[in-house]
Amino acid sequence: MRFTLETVRSIREVWPPEKPMSVRLSCVDWVEGGWSLQESVELARMLGAEGVDVIDCSSGMGSPKAQMPSEPEFQVPFAEAIKKSCNVFTAAVGLITEARQANAIIESGRADIVFLAREHLRDAYWVVNAAGELGCPERAKLPVAYDHWL
Ligand SMILES: Cc1cc2nc3c(=O)[nH]c(=O)nc-3n(C[C@H](O)[C@H](O)[C@H](O)COP(=O)(O)O)c2cc1C
Repeated sequence: MRFTLETVRSIREVWPPEKPMSVRLSCVDWVEGGWSLQESVELARMLGAEGVDVIDCSSGMGSPKAQMPSEPEFQVPFAEAIKKSCNVFTAAVGLITEARQANAIIESGRADIVFLAREHLRDAYWVVNAAGELGCPERAKLPVAYDHWL
């Protein structure tokens, strides 16, 4: 915690105050008796007080004993717990793949942002398709050249 807090303090000193700063936390390490969500909540509170705007809620596999579940939204509860107890925005990440699913996480207030990684590798048009599926008016503003490839 001290290392994280000292790093954040040093960055915040030089990073313009109007620009957002995020920190990715391994909210649990999936080891019994290891780093817990409650400890992450405490750390997130301290990070918020240091001027961190967003906690990106991941989890860690730092130990061979770690037992990580592999199911959709498995890290969303971390974003939800930190958002409820701390004065920071949270990002949910990990096995979020569908547009409606991503939107529901935000609309239900479980997180403020969703991050997707591997789904963007599977579908480079994920954002365009999601905008279409959700009826987002921005979809119509796509440069016409892109539509030839859809
Ligand atoms: C091979 C691999 C290694 C990763 N290592 C880490 C890691 O060390 N720490 C971390 O927070 N996330 C790690 N991630 C998670 C990614 O940074 C990213 O958050 C995740 O892939 C997003 O979930 P999604 O790909 O299911 O959308 C890893 C992901 C993969 C596929």
